[in-house]
Amino acid sequence: MTEKDFLPGAYQKMPENGKVTWKAPSNIALVKYWGKRPVQIPANPSISFTLDACATTTSVTFEKKEKNDGFSFDLIFEGKQKADFKPKIQTFLERVEMYLPFLKAYHFTIETSNSFPHSSGIASSASGMAALSLCLMDIEKELNPSMDEALFHAKASYLARLGSGSACRSIKGDLVQWGAHKNIPNSSDLYGMEYPFKVNPVFKSYCDTILLVHKGQKKVSSTVGHQLMHGHPYAENRFEQAFSNLDKLKPILANGDLEEFIKLVESEALTLHAMMMTSMPYFMLMKPDTLEIINKIWEYREATKTPVCFTLDAGANVHLLYPSSDKEKVQIFIKDELAEHCENGQYIHDQVGSGAIKIND
Ligand code: DP6
Repeated sequence: MTEKDFLPGAYQKMPENGKVTWKAPSNIALVKYWGKRPVQIPANPSISFTLDACATTTSVTFEKKEKNDGFSFDLIFEGKQKADFKPKIQTFLERVEMYLPFLKAYHFTIETSNSFPHSSGIASSASGMAALSLCLMDIEKELNPSMDEALFHAKASYLARLGSGSACRSIKGDLVQWGAHKNIPNSSDLYGMEYPFKVNPVFKSYCDTILLVHKGQKKVSSTVGHQLMHGHPYAENRFEQAFSNLDKLKPILANGDLEEFIKLVESEALTLHAMMMTSMPYFMLMKPDTLEIINKIWEYREATKTPVCFTLDAGANVHLLYPSSDKEKVQIFIKDELAEHCENGQYIHDQVGSGAIKIND
């Protein structure tokens, strides 16, 4: 599909009002997206596990306006009006307007809440933008009921990408790939899609415990971090590495080769942070406790031969990944050894999920 496929024709009907609700999950990248060009085109392809417990639920109530003048919306986050989130939504609506020409015809009330603790440092932009995009697509489907499923999901992902890159991987599927890659049929820079190759059952129920090392605001946002890949001395090599890591992942995911999986995933996480540390200006998002946890994971893996590994997103928190068959013992290890490095001892047990769902009110 190309950009043109997402431009709708004339709408078949225009309801006076209505309400839609979607719950969209967060995701954790195995091969990272870091670096982009306008508008929201990734410098390299990426792939992520969709999460299950960490999610955003968004309801959009819409009501026909008298005049088609500008965007009109209220934003309610966890029950309260949230003025500081409005500019981000305004920018998003401006970006997607040509693909959703009904936007100025309605007043919207957007009510949103996260399943994870407020300001836990978990990126809510992926699940938040995915949930909002799905709500808007659902409204478009009411206007154009003949739209097919494949277009619905691809366009929801396309819109979500315009809100936040990684959000396009939070729509549908347990393993989602985003970014054109010559060896992955139908892959696109424009939207994410379910990983099309064989996946060993071990990865279908993989566990991810998110260790909340630091819950405060990050010093450098992802948006700024992406920009620092322009003119970065190692950028080109890094982008090539990501392309090649997607090739390497294919047999690993098919065969369930956990030893190779661990090497690739941990290397991706550390490379992401190495890019931050070697940009100009340089910055560091890991905290001493991030490193303590990583060292304990390595020691535990060595001592017990349990295939646990870590990955990181753009922050200090650690995602501990392990097969569900090792759940019991790994969760004891977390409680006994890793919880002490988490802010207020907090962590979230999550696992691979299957994507967003519509909530019927
Ligand atoms: C490190 O998707 O948050 O989590 O497109 O600017 O909104 P924007 O960035 P964002 O970047 C996520 C980066 C990452 C890696 C990943 O999820 O692939």
